[in-house]
Amino acid sequence: MKKILVAVTGASAMLYLQSFLEMLALEDVIVHGVCSEAGEKVLELEHNCTSADLPSVSKWFDCRDFAAAPASGSAGYDAMIVIPCSMGTLAAVASGITSNLIHRAADVMLKEGKKTILVTRETPLNRTHLKNMLTAHDAGGTICPPHPGFYLKPETLKDAAMTFSWRLGDQLGLVMKGRKRWGREG
Ligand SMILES: Cc1cc2nc3c(=O)[nH]c(=O)nc-3n(C[C@H](O)[C@H](O)[C@H](O)COP(=O)(O)O)c2cc1C
Repeated sequence: MKKILVAVTGASAMLYLQSFLEMLALEDVIVHGVCSEAGEKVLELEHNCTSADLPSVSKWFDCRDFAAAPASGSAGYDAMIVIPCSMGTLAAVASGITSNLIHRAADVMLKEGKKTILVTRETPLNRTHLKNMLTAHDAGGTICPPHPGFYLKPETLKDAAMTFSWRLGDQLGLVMKGRKRWGREG
């Protein structure tokens, strides 16, 4: 069974996080999570909830706990996804500065050559953001900004978010029942 680490940071668009975790709930995967302090704040502001209220995550780690499992390559995660990924966390990942468990876990996943997806959210992007994205990409990360697939004709915001969650599922190698694709049914 795939073991996935979901990291939540303080960027907007928590709708995508909610949608992604709902999609994972239908899959045969183990999901662990870690949420930054700013992540908790934005979750509260946008969804009136805490990380503990989110679906699919069987275990949450304290973001300040450098002794937690994700701090070591031996923990055996198949993939990590930072969703949403703030420009601050992107900068930490790009520079290798590990001042919390999310930064450390991403650093570990990259050194282990494991799938590390950054759902970077900011607009517009300044030169530093763009340079950090390229650096993180060159270090092995996958930069995956939250853009829905409007060609799948989503009718609600939730549907639009799910089109993006499916793209993330593709990145993780998940089959995903009910996943709509361009050019074919189901
Ligand atoms: C409501 C709200 C929305 C925010 N949206 C973003 C955003 O979309 N992108 C971003 O980079 N920072 C955003 N921020 C700022 C980050 O939360 C802030 O830079 C924080 O230090 C990031 O810390 P973290 O990466 O440890 O979560 C937002 C803050 C708030 C309060």
